[in-house]
Formats: sequence, structure tokens, C-alpha cells
Amino acid sequence: MTGRAAVLTGLGGWLPPVRVTNDDLARRLDTSDEWITTRTGIRQRFVVPPGLSTSGVAVEAGARALASAGTERVDLLVLATSTPDHPCPATAPEVAGRLGLGEIAAFDVAAVCTGFVYALATASSMITAGVADSALVIGADTFSTILDPGDRTTRAIFGDGAGAVVLRAGDRGERGALLGFDLASDGSQAELITVPGGGSEHRSQGLADPGDEFFTMQGRSVFRHAVTRMSESSRRLAKDLDWPLESVDRLVAHQANIRILTAVGADLGLPEEKVVANLDRVGNTVAASIPLALTDGVHDGSLAAGHRVLLCGFGGGLTWGAAALELPHLSVEPLPTHA
Ligand code: ACO
Repeated sequence: MTGRAAVLTGLGGWLPPVRVTNDDLARRLDTSDEWITTRTGIRQRFVVPPGLSTSGVAVEAGARALASAGTERVDLLVLATSTPDHPCPATAPEVAGRLGLGEIAAFDVAAVCTGFVYALATASSMITAGVADSALVIGADTFSTILDPGDRTTRAIFGDGAGAVVLRAGDRGERGALLGFDLASDGSQAELITVPGGGSEHRSQGLADPGDEFFTMQGRSVFRHAVTRMSESSRRLAKDLDWPLESVDRLVAHQANIRILTAVGADLGLPEEKVVANLDRVGNTVAASIPLALTDGVHDGSLAAGHRVLLCGFGGGLTWGAAALELPHLSVEPLPTHA
């Protein structure tokens, strides 16, 4: 099939410099490397030091994606984040300015861990509609800044980081074209993943509880929804595209918990080697998770040109979604290790 489409041409990611291992957490909280590794698959994560915020990590990833695409300009920037530098204005214009992209269209998309899939769909649709000819799509979050320092569950899971892709207008028949999306939400389950205070709902009364400024998550329920919704969305998109599931070469799903990835892979009938995982090294990086897994996968060779890839995300909202493409050749810089 031919026709105008958004084509992936560049990819990059960045991790902030403070590495926190499971043992580091166990020195400060009632947890252990053994608990975190067996329950989540996560061994370490990276967090921002004071003075570095979401715009900073986004700029680093954006610069790497632009270099990977071999370009210095795009005419749209979409930033997926739920930890913007400020409640107002959006962080994207600041990022565009610091990347020297000029007076381009720039805005944030907030869909928590599904943010990157939503942002990709937004930028792709704008390119397909002719509103833009090229775009930088960044997923960036610094959840360490909204976690309760005493909450062993959330601190074990989340890490900070940013990942980005460059899209340009091209043809649907080209390798790298974004071929389709499946997006969904269920607001009736909003309380499962939330920061209760700090928004317009509680602004006039102040915080009911000082803890309301922190991120909360009902882990067990979130786990179940994540498996069901990511499987459902991937299956629906593959069917729309007439892709038999056995023809899918790689699944790059939101990196929340290795047990979730294993369950989604099993549900879709995909063998373990088709399910890309890098959460052991980076944790759950929220909107950065999918592009960081892509960057690691392309760098270590588990993702290669020609692979049929399904991307799928799940997060607060609840929100979930999937995207599909055949991977083009990409040259990527490895993620920093900060060893
Ligand atoms: N160390 C030691 N014990 C812990 C830790 C920890 N880090 N965290 C929780 N526990 C304890 C709990 O307190 C509980 O103790 P209790 O039985 O005495 O009450 C026990 O372990 C079991 O707790 P569960 O929550 O039932 O443990 P579970 O096996 O479900 O694992 C986890 C918890 C890892 C959070 C899991 O539920 C999970 O991964 N959920 C999904 C998270 C997710 O997908 N998030 C993505 C979306 S988030 C977003 O959109 C931003």
C-alpha cells in the first residue's frame, strides 16, 4: 500500500548520571536486591541530581535522535511527559529552544507510561495530514522527583530518562513507515495510578494530606490491567494490519516489570527472544521506556532492519496503545552507562 506516511529516521536515548542499584535502595529502605530482582527484574535505575529536570534529559535524548537522523532541524516537537518542568507552560517549547530548533510547533502530551505511543501517533498523524513534514518525538520523565522517598515499592520500580525518535514525511511502502496505531483509555480506573494533589482539583483547598504530592500506584491491579490491555491492543493492531502474530519479529512493550513482559509475550504466543527487555538496566522510565528499549535493542542487535515490530504501552489514566512498523536501518549511540 502506498500513500503519505511518517517514516522513522533517527533514534536516541539518554540516562541521567546518578546510578541507584538495588543494594543502594536496600541500605535506605526495608527491601532487598533479591526481592526487587525476583518480583520485577530490575537491578538498577538512574535518577536526576538536583538541578537536572525533565527538559534537561529530553534535550540530551533529542540531540542524539537528531544526530542519528543526520539532521539539525524538524518542524514539530512533541514531548511525552507526566513530569513537566512546571505545571504551566508545557516543557516542549523550552526543549525546542535549547535544541536550537527555532520557532517550531512544540507541545506536551500527557499519557503517563503510554505517553510515547500517544505522542508518536500525534506526530505521525500531523505528518500524514500535511501539517508537518518532520518531527522530533521525545518521551522523557523524571519520576524520582515525585516519589515518596520512603515508599519502597515505587522507588524500586521507577527510574529517570529520555528517549526520542525523528520522523519525516515519506511513503507508506518505505521501511520505517509507521503503519498503524491502536489507542485507548479508561478514566474509571484513574485512581489506580495517580498523584492525588498539586493539580486544579485540590489547588483551592491545599493538599488534604502532605503525602498527596507523591505518586501512588495500586501495584497488583495495575499489573493485571497492564497484561490484559497491552495484549489486547497489540492483538487488535496486528489484526488491523493483517499481520499474523507469528509474523511479528519483536515486541517492544512498556518496561514496567519483567513478569508483565513475559505474560504479554505468552498471551500473544511470542517466544522470549522476540520480547525486548532492558528494564534490568534502567527500571520503569515511564514515557521514556519504549524509545530507551528501542535504543538498547538496536545497539545490542536484538532489533534489526527489516524486523516487524509492535510497540505497546500501558499507564496511568488508565491509557494504553500500540504502534507498528518495519524497522529501518538506524545508527544509534549507546546509552550512557555511568558505571
Ligand atoms: N521490597 C520488599 N517488599 C516490598 C517491596 C519492596 N521493594 N515493595 C512491596 N513490598 C511488599 C509489600 O509491602 C507487600 O507486603 P505485605 O504482604 O506485607 O503487605 C508484599 O511485598 C507484596 O506486595 P504486592 O504489591 O502484592 O507485590 P507484587 O508481587 O504485586 O509486586 C509490584 C509489586 C512490583 C509493584 C507489581 O505489582 C507491579 O509491577 N505492578 C505493576 C506496576 C506497573 O506496571 N506500573 C506501570 C504503570 S505505572 C505508570 O503508568 C506510571
